[in-house]
This record gives sequence, C-alpha cells and structure tokens, in this order.
Amino acid sequence: MSAAAASSALAERARELDRADPLAALRAEFIAADDVVSYLDGNSLGRPLRATRERLADFVTHVWGGRLIRGWDERWMDAPTEVGDQLARLTLGAARGQTVIGDCTSVLLYKLMRAGVGAQPERRVLVMDSGNFPTDRFIAQSVAAECGLTLRTIDPAPLAAVSIEDVAGALDEQVALLVLSHVDYRSAEIARLAEITALVHAAGALVLWDLSHSAGVVPVGLDAAGADLAVGCTYKYLNGGPGSPAFLYVAAGLQDRLGQPITGWMGAADPFAMGPGYAPASGVRRFLSGTPPILGMLALRDMLALIERAGLDRIRGKSVALTEFAIECSDALLAPLGVELASPREATVRGGHVMLEHDAFRELTPVLWARGVIPDFRPPRGLRIGLSPLSTSFAELETGIAVVAELLARRTAPARRAAQP
Ligand SMILES: Cc1ncc(COP(=O)(O)O)c(C=O)c1O
Repeated sequence: MSAAAASSALAERARELDRADPLAALRAEFIAADDVVSYLDGNSLGRPLRATRERLADFVTHVWGGRLIRGWDERWMDAPTEVGDQLARLTLGAARGQTVIGDCTSVLLYKLMRAGVGAQPERRVLVMDSGNFPTDRFIAQSVAAECGLTLRTIDPAPLAAVSIEDVAGALDEQVALLVLSHVDYRSAEIARLAEITALVHAAGALVLWDLSHSAGVVPVGLDAAGADLAVGCTYKYLNGGPGSPAFLYVAAGLQDRLGQPITGWMGAADPFAMGPGYAPASGVRRFLSGTPPILGMLALRDMLALIERAGLDRIRGKSVALTEFAIECSDALLAPLGVELASPREATVRGGHVMLEHDAFRELTPVLWARGVIPDFRPPRGLRIGLSPLSTSFAELETGIAVVAELLARRTAPARRAAQP
C-alpha cells in the first residue's frame, strides 16, 4: 500500500474510533488552542478545562475577593487533605487520610526520601533506579550525601522499567529505602508496583514510588499493594496547570513513625499556637510545611470532578486504545522511514504515552511545533507522543503522526534520490 493510501485508511479508522469512543463528548469540555492541530503533550502539561476558566474568575471575585482572610478559617486550611483524599480515591486506590497536596514533586521527593531513610537509621543504603526522572536521581544523590548513606544504583535495560529481578539484586539488610518510578517517563513501561513492594518489604526496607506518569491515567492501587510512600505531579494527566502543586501519599500505618525535614508551621500540631518549638501534627498533615497553595489546586479540582464522571477504568480503556492506535499509525507510516518504537507493544505494561525514536527527531520537533503538532522531544532521539485520554481524539493523533511522516519523508527524499544509480 502507498503511504497516501495507508494514511487515508488510518484517517478513516480514526473517525470510526472517535465515533465509537464513549468518552468522546468530554473533549469539548477542554479549551482548544486555535493554532494547534494535534496536541500530543498532555502527558507533560494537560489542557485547561472550560470550567477552570469560570472557577478562577469566580474565585478571584467571590472567594478570595469576597471572603479575604476569613477564607482560611472557613475552608482553605482543609484543602490539602480534602483535595488529596479526592485524588487518592479517584486515581490512587488509597483510603482517606493518607494523601496531601502541597509543594512541587521535587520537594515532596526530598521530604519523603528523608522520612524513609530516617525510619531505620541503622540501615545505611539508599537505592535508586538510574532510569528515574532526573529530579528523583538528583535528590537521591543529595539525600545520600546529606545523611552519609551509600547510594546504590539499579541499572535496568535501556528505557525499561525497573524489574522484579533488578530490585531483588539490589536488596540486602542494609537497604533503608528504594526510590522507583511506576511508569517510565521515556518509554512508558509500567513497573510491577505490587510485586516489587512485597519484595522490598520482605527485605525489611521501604519503597517510595514516583507516580507522576500514572496519576489520572493508569490505575495504581496503592492500598491494595501495601505501598509505603508515593509522590506525583498534578500538571500532567490531572490538568492542574503549569506549576500546580504535587501530591504525596504516606501509608496510614507509617505516618506517626516518620518525620520530615522541612518542619514548617503548617505541619505542626497547632499552627496557630505560635509556640517556641515544633511538634508534628498527627497523621498525614505532618508532611505539610508552608501555606497551602489554594490557587494552585483550583484547576485540579475541576479535573478530578471530570475523572469522577468518566471513571478511571474507562479512562485507562481509552488510553490503551490511543496508544495501540499510535503504534498502528507508527508501524504503517513511520516504520518504513526508519522510526523505531521504544515503548512496549504489550498494552498491559504500557502507560499513557508512546516513545518513538529516530535520529532526525531533534531537528524535526521545532518544525512540528510550527505546524501545530505538539509532541515533545527526549534526548537523544526520542519523540514522546503523549495521549491524555479525555482531551485527545483518535483523529487528532492520526493527523499528528501523518505530519511527522510527511516531514520525515521530505527530509529523506533527496538522499534517496541521490543514492539511486
Ligand atoms: C517522573 C517525574 N518526576 C518528577 C517530575 C518533576 O517534578 P516537579 O514537580 O518538581 O517539577 C517530573 C516532571 O516532568 C517527572 O516526569
């Protein structure tokens, strides 16, 4: 089949998939950018909801403007746990009282790494996966240096999620804490969170999971897995907006045993006692530090309401269908041009995005952006196709991949002609 015929067959299939999609109507609830024909970066920064535009205006006028400082007593003090509980119920499989919102993911990683290694000070090893996102690795390095710990590194196969065997090989009686990613930020491979957690517990250690690429798109099941600690950001599949605050989870049974290093007044037992010394709050509030980011949680509330209406299982269903279709389009249109798939073909171990590789992707990415096709580039040669299920259509995805194919073909055409005798 010619490239043009393959492309029009895929475009027709995309229309069919959109017609059959039970969540298709929800796409209209997001604000569309006029100059974007294919947004493939919702895994990095989700689109805003129309409801958020109204909520922000209403908040400024009536809540902040109307209630002023009274807002703290009336509602805002409970927002970190209230929104945290909702996020936990809808996306993390976690019961109330274990999740709070506040700070950025990096700061929460620092707090929970210090909490985790401090739980068993006689254990002197911190383990991290070299495939973790940079901020996780950098903070693990500084926590190890600060606490005089040995940093042990797990090196999975390139772009692979950490495996059970990798973890087993890194465990011994000296390990206090492991810092691992649930969904790999490059390939989207999903690590076996429950089995790895059980293995780590059998060795007497704790594990801190980064859920940034799972929350809102891949069901997590923290309580069922007996998880200890987790963090994640809210600006990806949770559409909290640029710089929206992150969440942390600490299992109920651990909370009162753990301390954290940023002992600000909002994590204290009585923030308004203005006493001479710090005594931690009981429960998950002790992991807070400063004034809660009330404005930063507004968009997140709207997305959580939409996730509740859609249901996480249906969201995961559409996510799998989108990533399957991305692979189908890539196999048909891009593989003949030398593009390789760097994500798993097996859907059960693949998260919400697809990574494609080609040497030309670094230089093609700005050209794609100029054409209104917006994926992101991850060095050295990866094009990440992020597929936020509630705001992405199959047609939009096919359009984007067809433009990638067109640009790649144009780039390689003169070289091919020159190679002909
Ligand atoms: C896996 C992972 N962890 C952490 C972060 C970033 O954390 P922060 O919210 O501190 O910028 C990202 C950002 O993309 C990420 O992908």
